[in-house]
Amino acid sequence: MPAALSLTHQHILAVVESELAGRSPGGRLSLLDAGCGDGLLLGYLARALPILRPGAELDLHGFDVGDHGVQQAGYFDRTIADLDAATGVSWRERLALISERDPWPYADASLDAVVSNQVLEHVADHGRFFAETARVLRPGGVSVHLFPLGHVAVEPHLHVPFAHWFGGSDAIADAIRWSNRLGIGRFRAAAETDLDRYARAHADFLVRFTNYRTMATLIAEAKRAKLHATFRYTPHYYTAKLRAMAGKPARYRYAVPGALHGLAAMALRYVSSATLVLRKDESYSLPALHPEPVP
Ligand SMILES: C[S@@+](CC[C@H](N)C(=O)[O-])C[C@H]1O[C@@H](n2cnc3c(N)ncnc32)[C@H](O)[C@@H]1O
Repeated sequence: MPAALSLTHQHILAVVESELAGRSPGGRLSLLDAGCGDGLLLGYLARALPILRPGAELDLHGFDVGDHGVQQAGYFDRTIADLDAATGVSWRERLALISERDPWPYADASLDAVVSNQVLEHVADHGRFFAETARVLRPGGVSVHLFPLGHVAVEPHLHVPFAHWFGGSDAIADAIRWSNRLGIGRFRAAAETDLDRYARAHADFLVRFTNYRTMATLIAEAKRAKLHATFRYTPHYYTAKLRAMAGKPARYRYAVPGALHGLAAMALRYVSSATLVLRKDESYSLPALHPEPVP
């Protein structure tokens, strides 16, 4: 298997493989990376999936939004060029740049999997995001998202404890200032000299470009889109990290998570990224209105 540049990529692949095991006919897989950024996850999937699914028909797509503001101008053309160079095939037709308010450019029920890495904490409208996920997934399809929840104790972009728990930007800026004065945060590494300016600029970043959600609000939004939500794969990310640290081979099929994984996920949501899995499961059907009388 190709080495993953980031354990997050390997984990997302393993969750997709675990969830779709036996559910993608002929090993066929059409997958979308929503908020694909620099395309590194897609590049990894394009190399790893043919090894996990030899001979399978693979159809990979990605899109990002151009009006969010978290990415620099011109990044999307660079993503296409990098992916072309890394995989030897053209990605121009497979990647799309849209607006946050646009419908996703894919037909209804056309995809087996939708994934995202470090995106949901930036999405402005999760209701819209999940409704589009539900629309483009085939029945039986799955969606896998790795991202920090609002519960996480240390804000992961700034490495400042609780900075994202404050509502007002003055309080956020104070938290950034005080934390960095105590040596906690990224101010020194950013090689900036004006802590006050740094604190205000990064408070602005948190206010405008992040939108942290709790487990409960995301489960409710998923339900509104008629998607089944679980965070039970969250502990598997930590197990994958421990295996990598111990030099053990990576796993690409996880054990089916049970209730204990659910409890562990509740605790781990305070530590780092959580794994949200959304399933488009349409297994319930209404009983017949007038059942045949039993003779
Ligand atoms: C931290 S970057 C992560 C990029 C990439 N997934 C990665 O792992 O490097 C967050 C990404 O989310 C994207 N984003 C923000 N809102 C979005 C939305 N509503 N739909 C899709 N992508 C969105 C941003 O444009 C940005 O590329």
